[in-house]
Amino acid sequence: MAKSIYLIGGSKGGVGKSLLTMATIDFLMERGESVLLVESDTSNPDVWKTYKDSVDAKWLNLDEADGWIQLVNDCDSKPDHVVVINTAARNNKGVSAHGETLSSTLAELQRKLVTLWVINRQRDSLELLKDFMQAIPNAEVHVVRNAYFGEESKFELYNGSKLRTTVEERGGKSLTFPDLADRVSDDLYSKRMSIAAARQDMPIGNRAELTRWRNEVRKMLETVIHA
Ligand SMILES: Nc1ncnc2c1ncn2[C@@H]1O[C@H](COP(=O)(O)OP(=O)(O)OP(=O)(O)O)[C@@H](O)[C@H]1O
Ligand SMILES: [Mg+2]
Repeated sequence: MAKSIYLIGGSKGGVGKSLLTMATIDFLMERGESVLLVESDTSNPDVWKTYKDSVDAKWLNLDEADGWIQLVNDCDSKPDHVVVINTAARNNKGVSAHGETLSSTLAELQRKLVTLWVINRQRDSLELLKDFMQAIPNAEVHVVRNAYFGEESKFELYNGSKLRTTVEERGGKSLTFPDLADRVSDDLYSKRMSIAAARQDMPIGNRAELTRWRNEVRKMLETVIHA
């Protein structure tokens, strides 16, 4: 098998896709993996800007067929790289129209596609996940409740949903992405700093918070990322 592909999805704007993508890259780098970042947010390529100097990084438009073709070719040419895809808000149309390009080639690529689907507490996050699972039926799907929007028990819509049962019956996990103190996440964003760089540069109190969060994130990702 070649290395896996991790797609950070959610389709909704502002649910935490970019922060989870950065955390995933950080986790993989810490484990010594070679990473290929595919940035598909063409209007705000924040992860690409932050990680382009630390990992192999590509910028592809996954709203169009061309982007998906290129994605498959890139996955084929770097089998030893774990691929991490940061998706953009409202990318569900592109996935429905062209996702088959990837899903139909996974066997030949010898790669597993693992989706981390980030949700807030609203219903449309769940509706969009149903569409995604239809478009790419052979993806492994885990749901990530972003604790930025409240503690785990507050995700009542998802916690009690039929969708959760479906996800878990298919072997997916329901995870919780820890909340990082605003002044630290604001710093990461405004300075376009990688998590590793921030661990060197931030003031001692901010670093302590970042380390706490990073350890929590590691515990979460260890349950689903096996490179
Ligand atoms: N777990 C978290 N802890 C702290 N801040 C968070 C967390 N999740 C999201 N945020 C904050 O929420 C904002 C939006 O997050 P992010 O950019 O990751 O979302 P997105 O889904 O990538 O948005 P877009 O659709 O615009 O690309 C950021 O300012 C980020 O700092
Ligand atoms: Mg984003």
